Amino acid sequence: MRHFLTLTDYTKEEILEILDLAKKIKLETKNRVFKDYMPKQTLGMIFEKSSTRTRVSFETGIYQLGGIGLFLSSNDIQLGRGEPMSDTSRVISRMVDMVMIRTFEQSKLEEFAKYSKVPVINGLTNEFHPVQLMADYMTIQEAGLDKDLIVAYIGDGNNMAHSWLNMAAKLGFELRIATPKGYEVDNEILENALNEAKNSGAKIVISNDPKEAVKGSTVVTTDTWVSMGQEDEKEKRVKDFDGYIVNDTMMNLAHKKAIFLHCLPAYRGYEVSQEVIEGPQSLIFQEAENRLHAQKGVMVWLDKQRDK
Ligand code: CP
Ligand code: NVA
Repeated sequence: MRHFLTLTDYTKEEILEILDLAKKIKLETKNRVFKDYMPKQTLGMIFEKSSTRTRVSFETGIYQLGGIGLFLSSNDIQLGRGEPMSDTSRVISRMVDMVMIRTFEQSKLEEFAKYSKVPVINGLTNEFHPVQLMADYMTIQEAGLDKDLIVAYIGDGNNMAHSWLNMAAKLGFELRIATPKGYEVDNEILENALNEAKNSGAKIVISNDPKEAVKGSTVVTTDTWVSMGQEDEKEKRVKDFDGYIVNDTMMNLAHKKAIFLHCLPAYRGYEVSQEVIEGPQSLIFQEAENRLHAQKGVMVWLDKQRDK
């Protein structure tokens, strides 16, 4: 049995295999063909943070595969009143067939997975957002930009930056991350990525210079400056991220065929301008839709591993 907790647990071949499966299922879905890949299976979906995309895509996704999603907000289940993660896991995983969790520390997700009888999927933690990266890379493939790929990530050294690091390190593309001073990526995650990059041929460049990072890149991406749980830091962060907005001036430095990606929700006028997010280079809604298909690929793939 396998879990989907971070991309570091996966080989390049496995990531590409899941994406091929996702694209096959996407095509079927587009043709209104819904195959029962996971008949009668229940996906438990535990949320300790808000969500639009993750909730809707997982719930719709499992239904389209022949199963059903169970939305479990921590406000409503005993987890929110202090029941231990280990007990929650041992109970829920005896009743459902797969679990998706959105939580705070990655260690909480790992704790759940440790005690779970069924595969567990990371639906975002403070440290990582791997299912988002599956959708993002799928969008890059669909745009035909996966060859000679140069990704510029501008902004906070957060869960999205970390998952970009993991994906680049595995697949072997060039990733430039520009953050303000004090908002750099986690050192240990970076060291691991740099080690992995030696095998894959990835080029990873870390700086505090967004313009330099964007120059000639084929994908420009960013994320909110204020992640869930950091609401109290908003005022300081907005000041510290001055100069990091992805606007037309920034996009003009990128390759002319460059696309713009954002995991959403986006805050216009902060990390991205209205012109860029609504402009012709922006593929944000295709990217959001791909959450549905990429995650169906992940769920079906994990389900198949169980039979092996
Ligand atoms: N991108 C993403 O995970 O969105 P939600 O927070 O709406 O799920
Ligand atoms: N970095 C953001 C991503 C939201 C999808 C957060 O963790 O809130």
